[in-house]
Amino acid sequence: MEIRILETPEETAAVLARRVARALAEVPALVLGLPTGRTPVAAYAELRRMHAAGEADFARATTFNLDEFAGIPPSHPGSFRMFMERHLFHGINVPPGRIQFLDGAAPDLDAECERYEAAIDAAGGIDLLLAGIGANGHIGFNEPGDVLMARTHRVRLADSTRRDNAALFGGDPAQVPREALSMGLGTMLKAGAIVLVATGARKAACVERAVRGPVSTERPASFLQLHRHVELYLDRAAATDL
Ligand code: PGA
Repeated sequence: MEIRILETPEETAAVLARRVARALAEVPALVLGLPTGRTPVAAYAELRRMHAAGEADFARATTFNLDEFAGIPPSHPGSFRMFMERHLFHGINVPPGRIQFLDGAAPDLDAECERYEAAIDAAGGIDLLLAGIGANGHIGFNEPGDVLMARTHRVRLADSTRRDNAALFGGDPAQVPREALSMGLGTMLKAGAIVLVATGARKAACVERAVRGPVSTERPASFLQLHRHVELYLDRAAATDL
């Protein structure tokens, strides 16, 4: 893994946004994998700024988000679809038809997962996949456990993950859906390049285990060690244990 350690979360966000803009300049029809969470928010704000300044053009890009809650429609204020609208999509120019998302309210969730896999294949695969890491080592919504699914699948969310996402649901973890849909590790590992981003001291331990520990289903992000092109962008606090 190529590890870049930046001084602050702000600098990490700026470097990440420039990484995306550079990839778009090189390959305008870029297929991006995109995460939600607190970590990418500042980078998304920077990408909106860069787009307004003519420095990031998404006109030919396609995006696939990593995951979505099950049982709520895309228009629900707590959905990741709405999160992305608020933090990124409203301020850039990805054509709406090329914003791809798992639909947590699809009548057949297993079929929805298969549809998503087929859509990724039809787009020619993901060129550049951005991801955050959960304090429990999850990536996308691939939660630690005895087994991991390679393909896009339904997942039962860990209690800690529901607590971490409570802010999207009025601060009440009980309102966070119990299930979600997530790209699998196999889907993610097929991307041309993966950029994992982590900031803050709370992520130091899970970053260290993901990078240096054994590859284990108990640490889903550790599977990134199997990919030949992973870039890790960390602020100094998240890199403390390396
Ligand atoms: P966070 O979430 O950016 O809010 O810490 C990361 C994740 O759970 O993947």
